[in-house]
Amino acid sequence: MGGNTIDKETKIPRHIALIMDGNGRWAKRRLMPRSFGHRRGMERMIGLMEHAFDLGVDYITVYALSTENLKRPQEELNGLFDLIRNHFREYMGRVCARGVRLRIIGDTSLLPTDVQEILRESEAETEKYEGKGINVALCYGARDEIVRAANLAVEKGEKVTEEEFSGLLYTGGQPDPDLIIRTGKEVRLSNFLLYQAAYAELYFSNKMFPEFSDKELEKAIVEFSRRTRRFGKTDEQLQTE
Ligand code: FPP
Repeated sequence: MGGNTIDKETKIPRHIALIMDGNGRWAKRRLMPRSFGHRRGMERMIGLMEHAFDLGVDYITVYALSTENLKRPQEELNGLFDLIRNHFREYMGRVCARGVRLRIIGDTSLLPTDVQEILRESEAETEKYEGKGINVALCYGARDEIVRAANLAVEKGEKVTEEEFSGLLYTGGQPDPDLIIRTGKEVRLSNFLLYQAAYAELYFSNKMFPEFSDKELEKAIVEFSRRTRRFGKTDEQLQTE
């Protein structure tokens, strides 16, 4: 053990969540439009997903667009929607072909209807799969997700347990993220998976997302593996388990 290399001792997180920040700054430094950064970001997102599944990760959640991001200039939003129109189905189809179920999480009714249709079709193609999953967060906000779940609980008319409540979130039925990675130098969660993040290890990278390589992902996983996860218990309790 040691260094930044994954070996047979390395604990691989079951669920990794990724805040893909820094596409715009990466492009700007190259005197290129922000949309160029998003394009590269999308390619990197697919590469990282493939690498993570190869390493044995079962679930990956990516933050592609927050509800707050919808306030961005229309030109930038159109660039992101065009990426979905032109590449999403093919790219996700390639990753999901290894038996991965796709879920889009967030209020997709806020997206253009043709984009909604592509997302629905991409999800439908993976309905046959279970056990591994990708969640793409689009028009997503964690507070919104929690309030939505609370309202579903109220509609049921009965008090709910923590477990039942988490079943009402978009990620219902999936394990919580073990590791949340944010690229792009910012050190905050920005309304991402706030309920599910309760015990997640957090990892912040100074790399801009398009330059967050497979090797960088491995570094994050090695760091995750090194941290002792106590879930509020003592070392002694963990040793006797
Ligand atoms: C935030 O960083 C990133 C986004 C708003 C978009 C993330 C999208 C992708 C990585 C690829 C597209 C994926 C799909 C499914 C459409 P920023 O680019 O605003 O960076 P900045 O903080 O440098 O401005």
